[in-house]
Amino acid sequence: MINKVPSNRQNIPAKVSQSLIDQFGRTVDYIRLSITDRCDFRCVYCMAEEMTFLPRNEVLSLEECARLVKVFVSLGVSKVRITGGEPLVRKNALWLFETIGKLDGLNELVLTTNGSQLEKQAQDLKNTGVKRINISVDSLNPERFKKITRTGELDKVLRGIQAAKLAGFESIKLNTVIMRGVNDDEILSLVDFAIAQEIDISFIEEMPLGDVDHTRESTFYSNTDTLKVLQSKHPLTASNETTGGPARYWRVTNTHTKIGFISPHSHNFCESCNRVRITCKGELYLCLGQEDKVELMPLLRNHLKNDQPLIDAILGSMAIKPKGHDFDLKRAEPAVIRFMSHTGG
Ligand code: 5AD
Ligand code: SF4
Repeated sequence: MINKVPSNRQNIPAKVSQSLIDQFGRTVDYIRLSITDRCDFRCVYCMAEEMTFLPRNEVLSLEECARLVKVFVSLGVSKVRITGGEPLVRKNALWLFETIGKLDGLNELVLTTNGSQLEKQAQDLKNTGVKRINISVDSLNPERFKKITRTGELDKVLRGIQAAKLAGFESIKLNTVIMRGVNDDEILSLVDFAIAQEIDISFIEEMPLGDVDHTRESTFYSNTDTLKVLQSKHPLTASNETTGGPARYWRVTNTHTKIGFISPHSHNFCESCNRVRITCKGELYLCLGQEDKVELMPLLRNHLKNDQPLIDAILGSMAIKPKGHDFDLKRAEPAVIRFMSHTGG
């Protein structure tokens, strides 16, 4: 016998009217979700040489990731960045992009990648609705690239960048971490490359996330210095453009390139913070530089058919979103023990 559909349509969840506003009045409309802690690279500022990765069952399944994103979007989140580790090394990652790419209310689906899989996947990703991608490149010298990433092949990444250009993303941006004595002589050549490729580039100051094999203070290179180097060669105009993130942008006159600076040390961008991060273990971190978190995995696994406990926890987390972060390079212990590959960049 076929059950009659009840006339009060009780299966359809009530439209959630609350949105995510924290105690400082900041609206959270952007999530960054790490879908794996694994990566085919071992960048020196991100990982130790020997890493132990999480066992499968401690990582959110792709279905759980999709469910989480759907709940966040129902709470007003309009931008989702998929990160890792390297998101594209996760098997069937494309399924997740396809699934969340169709969500009503999601305006921007974006990706951070190391570029190693783009040669194969760029077009498929574009077809799922991914609008913008960030590709990490810290050197254009193959040997140095290998040294920084420990395992990466520059050529493969360069082919990935070409594939991304062909696929026609709205924007492609290089992410570069400048380290003193490692790649600080490549600031101009990396920008020249971006200009020649008609893509953007952002410089990210090294953050003390996780215990790596060097002291952060020894390699720290401030974006103020990077900007000085660039201004010595290029006419730059400060821009008030934003891509919804913490970067401050400069336009290079007569080019298609804008240069971003993400400066967690020299600039406090916390007052306009609009994002939260979810690790591949389902931990909802309210701030990149603080420990405040809510465990979402048990709520996903103990309430397979009921999103309400998840919704309540996410709404409740707004009360503990910290005012800001505090990175101090001189501290003996890393400010935050977890690695970027775990939390997602
Ligand atoms: N400090 C700054 N940037 C980092 N990334 C990874 N770890 C760190 C760190 N400790 C960068 C990657 C990538 C982006 C998501 O974050 O190079 O481009
Ligand atoms: Fe992998 Fe990105 Fe970390 Fe490099 S920075 S090891 S590419 S996750």
